[in-house]
Amino acid sequence: MLKIAHRGAKGYEPENTLQAFQKALDLNADGIEFDVHLSSDGHIIVIHDETIDRTTNGKGFVNTLSLSELKSFLIADQLEIPTLNEVFDLVDKKCLINIELKGIGTPHKVVALIEEYISDKNWNYEHFIISSFDWNMLQEVHNLNSNIAIGVLTEENIDTALAFAEKIKARAIHPDYQLLNQENTKEIQKKGFLVLPWTVDSDEDIQKIKSYNVDGIISDFPDKL
Ligand code: G3P
Ligand code: CA
Repeated sequence: MLKIAHRGAKGYEPENTLQAFQKALDLNADGIEFDVHLSSDGHIIVIHDETIDRTTNGKGFVNTLSLSELKSFLIADQLEIPTLNEVFDLVDKKCLINIELKGIGTPHKVVALIEEYISDKNWNYEHFIISSFDWNMLQEVHNLNSNIAIGVLTEENIDTALAFAEKIKARAIHPDYQLLNQENTKEIQKKGFLVLPWTVDSDEDIQKIKSYNVDGIISDFPDKL
């Protein structure tokens, strides 16, 4: 079962920072999950919200700020907002990378960067899985490069997620863990998809979800898995 660190090891370090991703590696996570948006000058920025207000000492929408402006604002008074390249270079093939597309325009930029690391830096497709709640973006990824593994995120309905996953030949369903039970977990797996629920943090929930024999769990506390 894959232990995937949500927004880095968010339970221990400020979310979506290089420090959080290093912590996940130190905890021997099998993978890290994080979110991406584009800066105004087209760089892929690793941040959850569409603004920098909650997590940094600045204010504004990510897609209205340039990379150098974004870098001038700090997380927890000391950490920079990372770019996707910086996260790839830190991870350096040591674990699976689950990129959740949030911001408009991210599909083609992220696909291009994955292709660059595969062709120039000896990475391979097994190092990546792209997920999103925005299924149009997942369709775009599939159209751009059907070799890239896709995880269909859902917080509402497993059946519609399954139908879409079949259409785009996805690798996995990423459901809100509260949608899962033993039966639908088995059904998803029988159709050939991995089951990677989020965000499972309490000991009680972890035990319950593990008892369904899921393929992996996304958690703020990967070491608890
Ligand atoms: O990828 C699963 C999970 O991260 C989705 O929720 O809000 O943490 O991005 P959120
Ligand atoms: Ca996420």
